[in-house]
Amino acid sequence: MTSIAPPAPVKRPSGNRRSQWSWAWVVLSSLAITGYFVGQYAQGTLDSLAQQHVGLADTYASRALPIRMAFYVHIVSAGLALALGPWQFSQRLRRRIRVHRGIGRAYLASVAVGSLSALVMSFFNSVGLLGFFGFGALAVLWGWTAWRGYKAVRERDIRSHQAWMIRNFALTYAAVTLRLWFGVLILAQVPFAHGPDPFDAILAQAYAPLPFLCWLPNIVIAEFMIRRRGLPALHLMTPPATRHATP
Ligand code: HEM
Repeated sequence: MTSIAPPAPVKRPSGNRRSQWSWAWVVLSSLAITGYFVGQYAQGTLDSLAQQHVGLADTYASRALPIRMAFYVHIVSAGLALALGPWQFSQRLRRRIRVHRGIGRAYLASVAVGSLSALVMSFFNSVGLLGFFGFGALAVLWGWTAWRGYKAVRERDIRSHQAWMIRNFALTYAAVTLRLWFGVLILAQVPFAHGPDPFDAILAQAYAPLPFLCWLPNIVIAEFMIRRRGLPALHLMTPPATRHATP
């Protein structure tokens, strides 16, 4: 879309308390996940972390050097994207356009590097084919929505830029929803656990659906938010052409 459009009409008042609480939750949860999950890989070498079974260190410690590099590049760049992204949705910061532009450039660069490294990792992920398709699709969509958001703002199509960046951050936020779903799916299995050491099976079963579950609901919610704000929504089918009445 190349039209120059004015900023989107915001239906709800900017001081809306509910949206401020939601934004505060997104900021806090994003910073918490970045701090904890990215921070844990700064505690030692991949080999030493693998011995302590930290995160996914044992999946990647034995991989070839380029894969281990992709792993580190991914957690640093994706972590940066998750820490920077929420600030772009603050109305107050958006008014300071130079700050918005600066954070936006750093965010988009982080997403570009983060999605390429995630795509590499999707070939070596810990859940096989499901992970390859789920994380792989997420990586591609993450990079593509960022590109669309960037393209829209270069074309001065601010409304499309807002819509694409909502979609894009919904995908960035998959890093948070993945961990939330993981916790919920672990807890849901606890009452049914049996056998001497059921914990490994519980973890594996909780992780299996995550490559898709971490982002599919997010993108549906993002599309609802885009429609509610009156921004350009995605259409699965091209709307029928306007019929002209024949005399
Ligand atoms: C949105 C696009 C993203 C994709 C496609 C993606 C992809 C992946 C993949 C494939 C893995 C390895 C999973 C496995 O082997 O089972 C992984 C791990 C990881 N990712 Fe991402 N990721 C994304 C976003 C993020 C973000 C925004 C963060 C920021 C916190 C992040 C942080 C991590 C961390 C810390 C790990 C190591 C696993 C752990 O210890 O929990 N990723 N990611």
